[in-house]
Amino acid sequence: MNEIKIFSPATVANVACGFDVLGFCLDSVGDEMVIRKIDKKGIFITKIEGGFDLPEETQLNVAGVSALAMYDVLMPDCGFEIEIYKKIKPGSGIGSSAASAVGSVFGMNELLGRPCTKTQLTEFAVKGEAVASKCEHADNLAPAMFGGFTLVKSMSPLEILQIPTPANLYATIIHPQIEVKTSEARAILPKEVELSNAVTQWANFGSLIHALHTSDFELMKRSLNDVIVEPFRSQLIPHYYEVKNIVLEAGALGVGISGSGPSIFSLSKGVEIANNVADAMKSIYSKTDIDFDIHVTKINTQGIKII
Ligand code: HSE
Repeated sequence: MNEIKIFSPATVANVACGFDVLGFCLDSVGDEMVIRKIDKKGIFITKIEGGFDLPEETQLNVAGVSALAMYDVLMPDCGFEIEIYKKIKPGSGIGSSAASAVGSVFGMNELLGRPCTKTQLTEFAVKGEAVASKCEHADNLAPAMFGGFTLVKSMSPLEILQIPTPANLYATIIHPQIEVKTSEARAILPKEVELSNAVTQWANFGSLIHALHTSDFELMKRSLNDVIVEPFRSQLIPHYYEVKNIVLEAGALGVGISGSGPSIFSLSKGVEIANNVADAMKSIYSKTDIDFDIHVTKINTQGIKII
């Protein structure tokens, strides 16, 4: 096999109370990439389609940098061409850079006969993700690579836990078309947090993990709260609290900022409520001059895959 085509999924990071450590994988939204083994040594980005202004220089491209990190360690006797068919808008808050970063290394690993584990591949992908967000974190990379819900237990050494996904859990995501840069959304966060807020957050986080393990939707609903990051980042997203209130009234289990925003995610039990949530979200942004995309999707328990 000298060439493969892959689907690299979009993801939601943080999941309310799990800043920088928790994430989940989306089913119907993702990039496609073609990875090709060639005789000439090196990593070459040969095509980027999708209409976004992304660099084709390997050293500046997220997919290129993660590929180089892997290439430098494995030193294979061949090179690779990478074609990127970008469907996830960069800067939308649903793991656009993570999809590119995991795509190249996953594809190379398949073509080389799978010498690396998924955790090792994620470690290479961290280098690519850091190009886009200016810091190393894996809460979008891990769910894109493994599927389902993932918990980044530690970055050094990288340790990723797969958390069960309850059946019948759906996500609704709205992407208001405004720009929020991850680096800026990180810069506005406080360096220290109040102990009382930390206690609330880790109680919510622990109980969310328990709720995912036990498919306890009522507990999930009481746990999907973020008292540390949301108060700051919500200021960057017009109408955030209007959306949050109407979505909770529509029956969602919880609402939060997807990654560093501007997308807003919500989780629901069943596709019917997830669709009602989509209508509720639309009703807020339709009254403004802000364009938006909306997705209703199952949680993708497989992650990145060959197509
Ligand atoms: N955990 C990251 C953040 C995800 O919220 O900044 C965005 O890349």
